[in-house]
Amino acid sequence: MPTPTTARRATAVAARATDLSKVYGQGETRVVALDRVTVEFPQGEFTAIMGPSGSGKSTLMHCVAGLDTFSSGSVRIGDTELGSLKDKQLTQLRRDKIGFIFQAFNLLPTLTALENITLPMDIAGRKPDREWMDRVIDMVGLSARLGHRPAQLSGGQQ
Ligand SMILES: Nc1ncnc2c1ncn2[C@@H]1O[C@H](COP(=O)(O)OP(=O)(O)OP(=O)(O)O)[C@@H](O)[C@H]1O
Ligand SMILES: [Mg+2]
Repeated sequence: MPTPTTARRATAVAARATDLSKVYGQGETRVVALDRVTVEFPQGEFTAIMGPSGSGKSTLMHCVAGLDTFSSGSVRIGDTELGSLKDKQLTQLRRDKIGFIFQAFNLLPTLTALENITLPMDIAGRKPDREWMDRVIDMVGLSARLGHRPAQLSGGQQ
């Protein structure tokens, strides 16, 4: 009997970090948050990153999502090497390909829940696919809260 691992079909890689290091600050406040991390995130699967507080989980996710710079190593999203992108290309990749839920949310307080959801598309000048959007909103149970601002939502709803 093949083990589950060998039986699994070869899946495409959604994102990958190779030898990734991230150092914050310098001198006495220097923190090595990531120390040559190599990791792959397969397409179409959920991946959980677990570890103690301060072990670098958020830092890893920020770097792999192209939201923060790294000190050395490389990050690839699909076929795109992040280090090869100019600032504007990186902005477009983030806007079009990445959805990110921040540990501290980073929602815009003056916008409603719906406006926060559609913000990247609004900036890009595109209209959301109404049917898909309604489905996703329904799936997370936000249909009755779309006109609320972030401060009027529960932690989970935010
Ligand atoms: N902007 C920053 N400047 C300096 N050090 C930072 C900065 N952000 C994070 N760190 C440090 O880097 C390390 C990793 O932080 P990170 O936020 O990635 O941890 P985490 O695993 O997400 O923790 P938690 O489970 O508490 O969310 C910690 O020691 C943290 O203090
Ligand atoms: Mg964190």
